[in-house]
Amino acid sequence: MVDRKLRAGIVGLGVGKSHAKGYMSSLDAELVAICDMNVTRLNESGDAWRVENRYSDYAQMFVEADLDVVSICLPNALHAAVSIAALEAGIHVVCEKPMAQTVAEAQQMIAAAERNSVRLMVAYNYRYRSDSQWMRRVVQNGMLGDIYHASLTWRRETGIPGWGVFGSKAASGGGSLIDLGVHVLDLGLWMMNFPRPLTVSGSTRAVFGPQSKKTWGRHPGDVIEGGFDVEDGGIGFIRLETGATMVLEATWAEHTHPAEDGFGVELQGSKGTAVLRVNHYGSVDTLRLYTEIQDEPVTVTPGVRFNGPQGHEGLIVDLMRSLRYGEATGTTGDHGLAAVSILEALYTSAQEGREIPLV
Ligand SMILES: NC(=O)c1ccc[n+]([C@@H]2O[C@H](COP(=O)([O-])OP(=O)(O)OC[C@H]3O[C@@H](n4cnc5c(N)ncnc54)[C@H](O)[C@@H]3O)[C@@H](O)[C@H]2O)c1
Repeated sequence: MVDRKLRAGIVGLGVGKSHAKGYMSSLDAELVAICDMNVTRLNESGDAWRVENRYSDYAQMFVEADLDVVSICLPNALHAAVSIAALEAGIHVVCEKPMAQTVAEAQQMIAAAERNSVRLMVAYNYRYRSDSQWMRRVVQNGMLGDIYHASLTWRRETGIPGWGVFGSKAASGGGSLIDLGVHVLDLGLWMMNFPRPLTVSGSTRAVFGPQSKKTWGRHPGDVIEGGFDVEDGGIGFIRLETGATMVLEATWAEHTHPAEDGFGVELQGSKGTAVLRVNHYGSVDTLRLYTEIQDEPVTVTPGVRFNGPQGHEGLIVDLMRSLRYGEATGTTGDHGLAAVSILEALYTSAQEGREIPLV
């Protein structure tokens, strides 16, 4: 146990703002330093949160700020290098999703954490929703029986990120699958206790992005700076060692109901099917359980209460408590690697037009 609050820092102040909320409501940590190369963003955040230690160079922050833990909230291409720099400095890391762009990077990150006896955690914030936690307990308690299929989706009508470097393969490693798909892929794997994947098939497309259509935060006709060379939609088929299958589908843009933006995890089993369906990040009426009673079909509508901090706030609060008291954390580097392995194989499959074996 550490008999004081952990000293926390954040690199990257886009979604890093959500990490800040978690640190500021944690009883086990305090936010003592922040870093962003965008000085306006840095100072606005520093002023709002009253954080005096402000850096535009993360390496300097790792040396000077005496951190116990740091959140890495940078574009995907920087996750591995900056996480490894922090781990080598003896700092625990909470890395944003996807943990890395490639299996090789993820393995190097895990090795750096082990070498330096510090923790590597991944910001899987959707695990920290009361509905997804309830659904996981249903699965783990055997209420669905043997799961034979998982359908994992995140689909948007208009939602190609109009900020940052999400359209660049070099900076982000991919598009909708690595950005949105990784969340639901992780939820499915986590609920099912990380079954080993055997093969992956995938297909990707770029229908709207290359024309700068269906983007968020831009005027129609504005060109996506830096170009667009990733997918805006993709699908994967995964065979698991248990005999079960998974279908993963993620789109940033498609012609569907106007303003559609929702994710779903559907797990089908021999005793029942559980469905988590979240529209527009909401929390009302998100769960269904389909089963049978006395041989007749029954639909259960759980009324899960959303108590306590949720999402990023819940994630950071939980990870800080685990770190401070030396308990196991819920999101590990191995969990990050599991999703990255499937996504890397999916992209290879899409490129080569064949099924990729993973074992
Ligand atoms: N878990 C989630 O739900 C969620 C949501 C949004 C984004 N993300 C992830 O967070 C990461 C960042 O996404 P974002 O939306 O915050 O992007 P963003 O572009 O809004 O923010 C990234 C920030 O990093 C800063 N930055 C870039 N390079 C830097 C460097 N070398 N040194 C210091 N600062 C640097 C930029 O100035 C910018 O402020 C991505 O990996 C993304 O996948 C996760």
